[in-house]
Amino acid sequence: VRTLPTVVLYDSHGLDLFDQITYTDDYYLTRTEIDILAQESDAIAQTCQDHRVLVELGAGALRKTRLLLEAFDQLGRPFTYYALDVDHSALVESLAQIGPFQNINLVGLWGTYEDGMVYLPTLPNGHRKCIWWLGSSMGNFTPQASEDFLLRLQSALEPGDALLLGTDGPNNPKAIHRAYHDAPGITADFILNGLTHANHILGQPLFNLADF
Ligand SMILES: C[S@@+](CC[C@H](N)C(=O)[O-])C[C@H]1O[C@@H](n2cnc3c(N)ncnc32)[C@H](O)[C@@H]1O
Repeated sequence: VRTLPTVVLYDSHGLDLFDQITYTDDYYLTRTEIDILAQESDAIAQTCQDHRVLVELGAGALRKTRLLLEAFDQLGRPFTYYALDVDHSALVESLAQIGPFQNINLVGLWGTYEDGMVYLPTLPNGHRKCIWWLGSSMGNFTPQASEDFLLRLQSALEPGDALLLGTDGPNNPKAIHRAYHDAPGITADFILNGLTHANHILGQPLFNLADF
């Protein structure tokens, strides 16, 4: 199997398209995760109230993040929230719109997951970390790459740190198929945009979009 790194999917236009996908009827994942977080954010914040550092991997548009940050803010303790994403403009725009919070300092981390793995161990010792990886982002990886990444993440963390992982379970195959083949064809545009972006990065038209 030949694969492309997930980063090529998420230039600014790709993120825009992904955001549109999350609002389609067929893409049940975002709706479901928002429902769960609306119900569980307070309990999650309570569980992680001693974690001073909150880090979101692949933060994107921060739609779900607001639910979590509001719950943490209400605890009345100081937190620092780091939003890591590979897309700079999304980080700047989303962070400008989400705040301010009374007890939460907001920080953008512009880089890849790999950059995040290098950065995490440099955070002050003794500050327990709560990592959020939402949006079934792990689904962009092969099973082997997911396993490798989780092991890599584990080694960047310390005992007492926590991981909040948002991912789909075994679901109705037809529903899953519809979620990734939405009627308006936005997912198809999203994937093709990844190839356009790859051509741009490579500086040559390696992928002919008409072939896909
Ligand atoms: C599936 S979206 C999820 C967005 C958001 N967390 C949500 O739950 O809706 C994946 C996000 O991860 C970012 N991303 C993808 N690959 C990445 C990588 N290798 N390093 C850092 N961010 C990445 C994308 O820019 C995008 O914002």
